[in-house]
Amino acid sequence: MNFKILFIFSLSLVSVFAGRDFYKILGIQKTASTNQIKKAYRKMAKELHPDKNTEDPNASEKFQDLGAAYETLSDPEKRELYDRCGEECVKKEGANGGGGMDPFASFFGDFGFGFGGNDNRGQREVSKGADIQMDLFVSLEELYAGNFVEITHNKPVMKPAKGTRKCNCRQEMVTRQLGPGRFQMTQQAVCDECPNVKFVTEERVLEIEIEPGMTDGQEQRFTAEGEPHVDGEPGDLRLRIQTNPHPVFERRGDDLYTNVTISLADALAGFEMVIEHLDGHKVQIVRDKVTWPGARIRKKGEGMPNYENNNLFGMLYVTFDVQFPKQELSEEAKEQIRKLLGQDAINKVYNGLRGF
Ligand SMILES: *[C@@H]1O[C@H](CO)[C@@H](O)[C@H](O)[C@H]1NC(C)=O
Ligand SMILES: *[C@@H]1O[C@H](CO)[C@@H](O)[C@H](O)[C@H]1NC(C)=O
Repeated sequence: MNFKILFIFSLSLVSVFAGRDFYKILGIQKTASTNQIKKAYRKMAKELHPDKNTEDPNASEKFQDLGAAYETLSDPEKRELYDRCGEECVKKEGANGGGGMDPFASFFGDFGFGFGGNDNRGQREVSKGADIQMDLFVSLEELYAGNFVEITHNKPVMKPAKGTRKCNCRQEMVTRQLGPGRFQMTQQAVCDECPNVKFVTEERVLEIEIEPGMTDGQEQRFTAEGEPHVDGEPGDLRLRIQTNPHPVFERRGDDLYTNVTISLADALAGFEMVIEHLDGHKVQIVRDKVTWPGARIRKKGEGMPNYENNNLFGMLYVTFDVQFPKQELSEEAKEQIRKLLGQDAINKVYNGLRGF
């Protein structure tokens, strides 16, 4: 009994000391890599975002916990502190260390929904700078396993400058008295005087997640990272996924295609071979039947991961080409081959129209 009470007591002591369990909040192991942390965060942020998670009364609290967990664990220094002595420690150190970045500011684009407050924008009728659309070239390996890439982007940022400028210009009707009983109404451009601004180029590092199974043309949107507008809000930056051609695999939908050349001897006698997949794992191919040129085999589950459900994979199609020996065979060898194969001469003339 005593032991049990002691145990409960010490447990509660630990939790008081440690603050929130950031690993538990993110659903990851203590040994998780930075990539795994980012992945977990991104996945959970999608689920827990208060815009989506409207049923849960604790949604915004959970979302804040998640943000705090991510901010701490994604920073190696803070993570080390946290591992050593918990959340309080990180907070204390963070106060003098400064630099509390907002983890939602520019990370990972906008999660495919109005993360940056896109939704309100239509109602306010604020002028907006143009969107910038750019291609982001990625490898098939990255699309298979997922990755996080950083891009550096020089962004013009508005800064206060000396003097004033005309702003909020609009057309207004002005009535002037021309003489007794005579008025004239004219349209006139009216502007306000606003403090002047200048644009200063700042370097911004944006981080983009290449999610497994993404397809060409899919976009990641970064709110307000596009062209600035002097009287309004900047446009967005839209990065479009484009796959670089791969030397070994070709992708069609979720399926992968590859070509393999085998020797005539292997084609007849069977063979075993290994294809190295996009993440380095080995795909074994064993044939004991005859393999003719153009034969195609399918390996289930060895294609690309499906974007919607990363546990589903497409097919891998391997098409074989057979390399015939180039050297002349001796009369004796020819005789042996004929005997071995036991094939009668086939001299079929085929004009390509009638089928076999
Ligand atoms: C919300 O949080 C309160 C207090 O932490 C807790 O008692 C309650 O069960 C939570 N509700 C849900 C739906 O998780
Ligand atoms: C395989 O060979 C075919 C025919 O030569 C070609 O069209 C296809 O692009 C090749 N596929 C790969 C992945 O190299």
